Amino acid sequence: MGVASNSNIPAGLDLVAEIARLKREKNAVLLAHYYQEEEIQDIADFIGDSLELARRAKESSADVIVFAGVHFMAEGAKILNPKRKVLMPDLRAGCSLSDSCPPDAFARYRALHPDHFVVSYINCSAAIKAQSDVIVTSSNAVKIVNRIPKDRKIIFAPDRNLGAYVAKQTGREMLLWQGTCIVHETFSERKIAALQTEHPDAELIAHPECEPSLLAKAKFVGATSALLRYVGESAAKKFIVATEEGILHQMRKLAPGKILIPAPPNQNCACNECPFMKLNTLEKLYLCLRDETPELVMDEALRTKALAPLERMLEWST
Ligand code: 13P
Ligand code: SF4
Repeated sequence: MGVASNSNIPAGLDLVAEIARLKREKNAVLLAHYYQEEEIQDIADFIGDSLELARRAKESSADVIVFAGVHFMAEGAKILNPKRKVLMPDLRAGCSLSDSCPPDAFARYRALHPDHFVVSYINCSAAIKAQSDVIVTSSNAVKIVNRIPKDRKIIFAPDRNLGAYVAKQTGREMLLWQGTCIVHETFSERKIAALQTEHPDAELIAHPECEPSLLAKAKFVGATSALLRYVGESAAKKFIVATEEGILHQMRKLAPGKILIPAPPNQNCACNECPFMKLNTLEKLYLCLRDETPELVMDEALRTKALAPLERMLEWST
């Protein structure tokens, strides 16, 4: 079942206090990504980007890891720390990048290029990780690709935008799987240009999942944690932020005096919110801790195959 089943929450229950009590009682740790709802970020034991969350999950000695993020992140926690029970508020919280790379199609693609070293972005399923030589996140991709021997040809999957960015930074030619993130491809460059005219003192900062033409105009490109640090450290007072708007919560806390303008999407929609990340709610979080379901379970053979490239990533990013 994808979602905690008993939605019978007593009226007036203090969810925040109950979650804290259940965490203590069950020796559970709550890990949350920066794109989670603010109220979830505020009660998390640790908030971070994909790499930091993977590290925390691996090191955790809690009996239960509650992962407020998307499926590939919770799966990564289980791969790295299989003795822990890994729970998700909503097991249906997927990722368009991960969905863009079906394991069978990827196996056929690899078979066409058997001499290539396979680099996969962590935003992919365990079945793709199991077919990869090394995993990267947006915060260590350049460093890791730089470590691949120069004579090796490279396949990069599944994000073509991050792939193109890494190729440019490293000077390495790479075959790119043609996946994209539905959130990061939605930003309107026309509307961003209008905002820049209106706010000439604002710096455009962007996540590398954005399209190359947008990245070329950005003052700073980085993973969520790097964007957060940049806002704190830059002398600028105003920023146009081209990534999922959940990160703005920590930016506001870190730099309360700074003005943050979320980059606008093409349509008049809330498409700069990740619909998968936003499936997680405080109610579902409470229910999954209380009922210890839905649990992320994995086939052991698949887990061990996916572990090797993930461990290589952790080793190569130190
Ligand atoms: P970060 O690793 O930069 O947090 O990115 C995760 C993600 O899903 C971006 O869309
Ligand atoms: Fe996937 Fe994009 Fe959502 Fe990140 S923001 S989880 S890449 S769909």
